[in-house]
This record gives sequence, C-alpha cells and structure tokens, in this order.
Amino acid sequence: MTFTADTLVLFGATGDLARRMLLPSLAALDHDKLLDEDLRIVGTARSEMSDHDFRSFAREALEKFLPPQRRGSMADFLNRLSYQPLDVTADKGFDDLAAKVGKDRKLAIFLSTAPSLFETTIAGLSRVGLTSGDTRIGLEKPLGTDLASSCEINDAVAAAFPEDRIFRIDHYLGKETVQNLIALRFANVLFEPLWNARHIEDVQITVAETVGLEDRAGYYDGSGALRDMVQNHMLQLLALVAMEPPSGLSPDEVRDEKVKVLRAMRPVESGESVTGQYRGGASSGEIVPGYDEELGKPSDTETFVALKAHVDNWRWRGTPFYLRTGKRLPKRVTEIVVQFKCVPHSIFAGAKMQPNRLVIGIQPEENITLSLMAKVPGLDRDGMTLRSVPLNIAMPDAFSGKERRIAYERLLLDLIEGDQTLFVRRDEVEAQWRWIDAIRALWASEKLEPKTYSAGSWGPSAAIALAERDGVTWNE
Ligand code: BG6
Repeated sequence: MTFTADTLVLFGATGDLARRMLLPSLAALDHDKLLDEDLRIVGTARSEMSDHDFRSFAREALEKFLPPQRRGSMADFLNRLSYQPLDVTADKGFDDLAAKVGKDRKLAIFLSTAPSLFETTIAGLSRVGLTSGDTRIGLEKPLGTDLASSCEINDAVAAAFPEDRIFRIDHYLGKETVQNLIALRFANVLFEPLWNARHIEDVQITVAETVGLEDRAGYYDGSGALRDMVQNHMLQLLALVAMEPPSGLSPDEVRDEKVKVLRAMRPVESGESVTGQYRGGASSGEIVPGYDEELGKPSDTETFVALKAHVDNWRWRGTPFYLRTGKRLPKRVTEIVVQFKCVPHSIFAGAKMQPNRLVIGIQPEENITLSLMAKVPGLDRDGMTLRSVPLNIAMPDAFSGKERRIAYERLLLDLIEGDQTLFVRRDEVEAQWRWIDAIRALWASEKLEPKTYSAGSWGPSAAIALAERDGVTWNE
C-alpha cells in the first residue's frame, strides 16, 4: 500500500553522503514545499550529539552544499531534524530510537552506512518493532562486493521487509537526463523503429570523471572501477537503452524489461576488456599524483575499465555496446552515443557519407545531438557536397526556468512517497553481479593487470584499440 511517510530515519546521518547530498536534497525539497508539513527527520549515527548539535551540523552542510537561492526556509527545515546516537555494532540506541520515533508513525528508513552493517541494523530495528507495519527501507550502494555477498545482504533485508518496501538506490536513475532516456525512446515515434541491430552499428556509454580517490581510499581500493561504476550505474544505463518498450511506467513494468536485458548479457570474453590505473599527470589544469601515490602503497585496483558487451537477444544480436569509465580522465562527461548504420546505397557519387549519430549527454551538459547529413550550400558542378551537421537540443535552454534537480531530491521524495520505479529490484542487482563476477573471474584466470595511463588522458591506449579494431572510434 502506498502512503507518504511522516518520519524519515536516516542512518549514517553524519556521513559524507548525508552532508553533501541527503541533507541538502531534503532541504531543497522543503524549500520547494514538496515535503509534508508534518514530516520529521531523525538522524542517527555513532557520534554522541544532541538534537541541537545535529542541527548545527546540518546548518553547516547546507551553507556549503545548498544553493543560496534555496536557503529561504532553512530554519524551518532544521526544526524538522532530531538526532539519536546509535551504535549498530554494540546494539545500543535502538530502544531510544524507537521511543524517539514514537508509535504508529508512517516510517521510511534510509541506510547510508557500510553495507556490512545492514544486517545488524535490520536486526536491531526488528527487535524494537521499527520494521513492522508498512515501514519501507532505502539502501545506499554498494550492495555487496559480488553476487554471494549481495545475496546475503538481500536475504537479511528480505527477512524483515517484502520486496515492495525495499528501495535500492542507484543515484543515476534519479538523474533528469537518465529518466529522459525513457521519454526520448517511448514518447517519440522516430527512434523506436530504428532502435535495433538492423539500424544501429554500435552503442557507446562513457562515464568519465576527472576526480581521483577523493578521501575514499579504503572503499575504492577494495572496489575498483568495475564494481564501483559498471556494476550499477553503467549497467542501468545500458538496460534503459536496450530494453523493450514497457507496457506502462509502473515500477515492475519498467524493471521487468530492464532485468530481461541484464539477463541477456553475454559473458565478456578474453580480449573484450581493458583495465587501467592512472599515474601522475595533468588533470583539469593541475598536476596530480598517481593512484598509488594517492593511496600511499602499490595496488592493482583498476581506476579505468573499457568493455565490449553484447546483449544476446533478437533486437541486439550484432550490435556491440562499448562501455568505458575511469577516474582522472580529461573531462567529466557521461554520455550515450548511438551510432546508426550507413545508408544502404548512396546516390551522392563522390560524397563522403557519415552515418547518423545520436549523442545523449547526461552530464555535465544535458543535451541531445543528432548528426544529420546536409548539403553544403554552393553551386557544385560535380555532384552535391555533403556534410554532417548537428541538430542539437540543450535541455536547460529547452526548459529554461525549470529547476534542475539533483538525483537525490527525486529519489528521497520517491522513498518518502513510496514510488519504486527509479529503484533497483533484487533480480536486477543480482543479474548485474552475475555478469560482473564472470568478468572478475576472467581477469583472475588471465592474471590481467591494469595498464597504466597518465592522469588527464583517455585511459590506456589498449582501450582505444579495443574499439578501433572494430572500426569504432570513441566519441570525444
Ligand atoms: C558513485 C561512485 O556511485 O558515483 C563514485 O562510488 C563516483 O566513485 C560517483 O564518483 C559518480 O557520481 P556522479 O553523479 O558524480 O556521476
């Protein structure tokens, strides 16, 4: 049953994600009058703090991370907050939390803590009766480090919550342009008839970052680019690009289609992946150290990965999906490039034909560019001269005056209101892990070591070769 929560309990309330994203997103929703007046937010974490201390902590976070134009109702927002010290590992504080929350509340709980704590957290919540009734739970990534650990987490959560009350976050699904992919594909008649292997040569998905380790050495070094970015965000993007049209937009109609794609992914074969690790170099105009220097020790964790993936179904047989992601690349960009095939026969003798290309820019620029062939003006005598020209829609211009919202605003609101469409279902997470585990097993059997690349470059040259040997050039 769908209801709007009147109490949000935030585990990990003093953590980095809470400071940078969760509290500012909630405050932004409050500013725009999207939260019920009665909604209360209870933060919990290990630190001993009073409600007053927590409000001061939140105020500092908002002054840093909430845009000034959305700070108007900050004082009211802070009044919604209270705090309960709670030590999950020592099972201390759950009774006080239950007392603080009170009876008969409509609860949404969000776990933004290490997943290794999920099981004990849920046991503690169950013990004090906070998982009963309609309570729903939001889970931050990473959900495990492989299929087995992910199943363990999912089993522990499932012991206390049915699937329709579990909200697994993949924050890419909350991004405006990612949702726009669904609109582009299914609210227009133009693309769908061409959206298959007969007309699409290949698809590229790039998620490039300029940042390095960012004080997350402990987590990142144990994870690496494949598990940090491909297992979740990139596979979700791929699933949205490749899925069949769902019959509606309800959570399960969309997720049923995504999971079919994830299950149809062929295991990556030898020679279809390249890993890299950055060395020192120039990034965003600064000289930056190499990964091992940042980490303070040698490591074989990959900070870059490029893959050639295949979706084995009727629609996509024969169209490769090239995926690449990495840290310390030349620019921050997330984009999907759909490369169409050449026209079957050219009537323009001598003209160099370029196939159409659709580039969906997800961040930082939100735009859609379709390259089309057009005649270059002029009185040519030996046939037309043609050139590829871009048809460009910049989303912020097309919808000027509309507030651009960060992903967590959408997702926290959906958690509070109970809409699961943009959350990942258990079978999706598990299909994602299954595919990733096979890649890691392949790397282990081949003793694949990350190749080095300079910070500020597009990764190891082998990644360029991975695409080029198929005649494909990465979009830059
Ligand atoms: C997170 C990863 O899930 O996504 C980070 O753990 C990465 O390593 C981040 O930097 C990227 O998110 P965004 O929204 O900045 O593209």
